[in-house]
Amino acid sequence: MAFGVLILAAGQGTRMISSLPKVLHPVCEVPMVLRVLRAVRASGPAQVGLVVGHAGKLIQETVAPQIKTDFVWQKKQRGSGHAVREATNWIKKCVSKKVRHIMIVSGDTPLIAPETLKALYQFHASSGMSATVLTSQVANPFGYGRIVRDPSYRFKRIVEEKDASGDEKQIREINSGIYCFDAKKLLEALPQLKNDNAKKEYYLTDVIGYFYSKGYPMETFGQYTYDGASETLGVNSRVELADAEQILQKRIQTGWMKKGVTILNPGASHIGEEVHLSADVVVLPGTMIVGKTRVGSGSKLGPNSYIEDSEIGVNATIRASFVYGSKIGERAQVGPYTHLRTGSVLKAGARVGNFSEMKNSTLGLGSKVSHLSYVGDATLGDRVNVGAGVITCNYDGKHKHRTLIGSDVFVGSNVNLVAPVQVGAGALIAAGSTITQNVPSDSLAIARSQQVVKKGWAKENRKKRT
Ligand code: UD1
Ligand code: CA
Repeated sequence: MAFGVLILAAGQGTRMISSLPKVLHPVCEVPMVLRVLRAVRASGPAQVGLVVGHAGKLIQETVAPQIKTDFVWQKKQRGSGHAVREATNWIKKCVSKKVRHIMIVSGDTPLIAPETLKALYQFHASSGMSATVLTSQVANPFGYGRIVRDPSYRFKRIVEEKDASGDEKQIREINSGIYCFDAKKLLEALPQLKNDNAKKEYYLTDVIGYFYSKGYPMETFGQYTYDGASETLGVNSRVELADAEQILQKRIQTGWMKKGVTILNPGASHIGEEVHLSADVVVLPGTMIVGKTRVGSGSKLGPNSYIEDSEIGVNATIRASFVYGSKIGERAQVGPYTHLRTGSVLKAGARVGNFSEMKNSTLGLGSKVSHLSYVGDATLGDRVNVGAGVITCNYDGKHKHRTLIGSDVFVGSNVNLVAPVQVGAGALIAAGSTITQNVPSDSLAIARSQQVVKKGWAKENRKKRT
């Protein structure tokens, strides 16, 4: 049996107080609506539709390149029921394609698991219900629609926070905003919705009251992959956005800890969903690891580091540094206070240290850039020692040029290497040199003005002044 899913994402999300539409706010780097769409797609529907309205173009541009969905426009946002009503033609199209059930999912429920959606649908379809509502018991139901039952405990209606009586506000069973409906009966109910409520909106939840009045069978469903309170979390404000982020981080970090990763202070670390860590990786506080980063065993990351789209070998260390699109070999050391920009490669045992920046450059085996240097568009061989304050002058104002340094070269402190320039293997460059011409292998290059010493001059000078 086939089902279709309609995701509601036309609302502005006024409670976010943001110029960005609510469903585009990211949870763990991924916009909420994309998370919902991915979960929906993974639950196996025949059709997927997304209702957009407020900033709909922007949402469409974000979503369309990532995942397949139909777009349905709700030009004026008059409530969740109105949003579904605007999708009447889409639902009819589904029905014409043999879809019997329509699942509705809120675009602001980013933590819902695909397996939960699947289980909801399977229960709904196999039990022959006209409507099944995904509900959960929560400690603080404030803001959610409450599940109201009749004296014989039959599911009767959903009452919204603003319309609830004192007694109804005590109900802790809440509407997740995720439902399955018999498609034809939903089409029958939609024109019946009224906006005679506190918000003067057409509530989708009133479909339940209508079904009850008609005697259509309904049930609630509450079996979750993780747990109800977290999966049904609806994000309406920045506080709930932070809650969602924290819950997702807990899921991800717990997963890695179970696979042998030490995370010293999980609350003070952040690990992206696509990151891969090996056993015996240690993550220290203040560290964010994001993108498609992979980390080999025994590596220590942090404290206070940001690592994005990078490949870290075994037993490497990264301390208090920013690392983007880089490849760090085994036993290599980065930091403290290093900025590795895209294309930095550190081969095994290499080191980039204090207050140094690297970009689009390779450091050979065991080579060291220990202090206050800039290495850009350069290739350094093995065992090269770069002194303090060395600069590769890679930019002439128009073009970038490369610096090539052979193995076993010693670059003294405060050297400028004006690219394009090459230094042959085994050469030595004296401190303070500005190198503008190639240096042959095994030679010494000094390019600085000669020192002049005037004996006793300082003493004479002092005398003159007194
Ligand atoms: C809604 C439910 C509430 C439930 C909660 C779960 C209604 C009336 N109430 O409340 O019972 O407990 O979700 O999180 O449905 N939307 C549109 N067009 C509109 C209005 C809203 O597309 O005109 C979309 C929003 O973008 C959002 C979703 O519908 O993704 C829910 O709207 P929201 O305003 O967040 O409803 P809640 O007050 O959270
Ligand atoms: Ca909501």
